[in-house]
Amino acid sequence: MIRQIMFSRMTAQTARFSFVKCGSRNKRKMIVTQCIRSISSETSSDGHFFITTPIFYVNAEPHIGHLYSALLADAACRFQQLHGLPVNSLLFSTGTDEHGLKIEQAAVANGSDPLQFCNKVSHKFRYLFDLANISYTQYVRTVEERHKCAVKHFFSKLMDRGHIYLGDYSGWYCVSDETFLTEAQVHEITLPSSEKRLVSAESGHPVEWNTENNYMFKLSQFQSDLQYWLKDDKRVQPKRFHQQLQRWVNEDLQDLSVSRPSYRVSWGIPVPGDTLHTIYVWVDALINYLTAAGYPNTELWPPDVQVLGKDILRFHGVYWPALLIGIGLEPPRSLLCHSHWTVEGEKMSKSLGNVVCPQDCIKRYSADGLRYLLLRGGTPHSDSNWSEAHAVHILNVELADALGNLLSRCTAPSLNPNQLMPPLDQQYLKKMPLAGQKLVEQLVELPCIIEKHYHDFNFYHGIEVAMAAVRQANAFVQEEKPWELKNLPDSNHLDSVLRVALETVRMVGIALQPVVPTLASQLLDSLGVPVHHRAWVNLKDGFSNAQYDNLSSSFNLGPRKKLFTKIKL
Ligand code: ME8
Ligand code: MG
Repeated sequence: MIRQIMFSRMTAQTARFSFVKCGSRNKRKMIVTQCIRSISSETSSDGHFFITTPIFYVNAEPHIGHLYSALLADAACRFQQLHGLPVNSLLFSTGTDEHGLKIEQAAVANGSDPLQFCNKVSHKFRYLFDLANISYTQYVRTVEERHKCAVKHFFSKLMDRGHIYLGDYSGWYCVSDETFLTEAQVHEITLPSSEKRLVSAESGHPVEWNTENNYMFKLSQFQSDLQYWLKDDKRVQPKRFHQQLQRWVNEDLQDLSVSRPSYRVSWGIPVPGDTLHTIYVWVDALINYLTAAGYPNTELWPPDVQVLGKDILRFHGVYWPALLIGIGLEPPRSLLCHSHWTVEGEKMSKSLGNVVCPQDCIKRYSADGLRYLLLRGGTPHSDSNWSEAHAVHILNVELADALGNLLSRCTAPSLNPNQLMPPLDQQYLKKMPLAGQKLVEQLVELPCIIEKHYHDFNFYHGIEVAMAAVRQANAFVQEEKPWELKNLPDSNHLDSVLRVALETVRMVGIALQPVVPTLASQLLDSLGVPVHHRAWVNLKDGFSNAQYDNLSSSFNLGPRKKLFTKIKL
């Protein structure tokens, strides 16, 4: 399954080489087809994994939506590592998007110099990601020299290959979204003051009319390449976003303006050889993914997965692959597009004043508490709602009560005086109550089911499966009443009940490592599970192993520690 993500680099490299050599459209099409074929078949891999998040605008502080994108990528990396991906084979990039009018205006409104302003806010994003244990390996800032070099190199290549022309552009521009819009993408709204205003139909942000002399990218010539790229129906997940992209790509594609006059936008990177123009901030921003990979070196290209929100799907699913194909590089192997977090039922926005601050949440719930809430509550296919009361309820019920109590009760010295993962008596399995049988069935299936959900980035679903096993284990303990079994002369029955329950905790601990790494490792420490027995394959050490060998022997528990302290509302 993992191989599906980690496609063959060798095939990719061969394909890329041909990309660079061929200029004509027909040849290019052939090569795109070739890449796609190599991507959709399960080929061997060189063992790298390259994943990206968007780079975030520094006009405002980070919120839980930004952190959610980073968490999806982080959990995916940790999942890969549990499958044996070495740390030095991981490329996980994130960072900040710091050029353009929107940022310049925010700096002015803040009374700061743009670079100082960017330094301050970019640092806040990085600090948050560190606080939340996001294991990124590259943090790209678009103001960095290495990025400016990458952008200039890329843009020159587009020009050299004849994909750029100077043209007159008239149209709408939305500064908030830093995007050009067609007539159809703009509509009129009436403000509460009864004043009328033109806004972007998609985002609701105000637009302005621009007539300027811009460099244009011949996007219209890439339609069939994009259609080919989208032929693989796993290219963009979830499915609804794949379909959305197909609709866009099948529409008439307009050429894309890729510069702004520098008298209008000066906070950016100049067009190579023409300082009267500044490179369009979205082209600048998208190239960050290449910067992360060491461009102009392209050994690590392309990304296996690019995580992004639904608001920026068009940029990543239409403009970006076309630009890459334009310079002879492979488009991304897959996109994971996720929906948005709303707050108490409303869109999260600075103007509504309902932005949820992740640092505050970490103070209240701990980093793992917030990770759990976002990954458990976030569904990529549709919007998810944040509610403070619900957050507290979930953490208390699931982490403190269900999981925390299961662990603490089965390791309590009163029931477990020798502080052991006690042995399972195989005879017990034949006479166990229904609740136990059901639990064992769940545990046998758990590794494959959770693997599938995590593989599809449906971490929420994997977590649900893990927590269902925890609930079942509690029901089983309740039914077996170990506190009564401890009075029996023979300890077999009690030991077996405790082992089945603690085996559940062990498996859930392993499976939750990508979601709550610190909490999961504490939990596995309490059980005395050695660090080298915490990989994904170790999920199958217990009930999936036909002889139940490992379950018949005992080992010492680690130090007892409270797993998660209840939060007061
Ligand atoms: O668009 N729920 O940056 P941005 C979930 N700089 N995720 C959310 C969210 C929400 N309510 N709000 C934002 C930009 N996000 C560009 C990107 S990439 C080359 C350039 C997440 O600061 C989501 O990933 O507006 C969304 O796509 C991204 O933040 C937009 O962040
Ligand atoms: Mg945005």
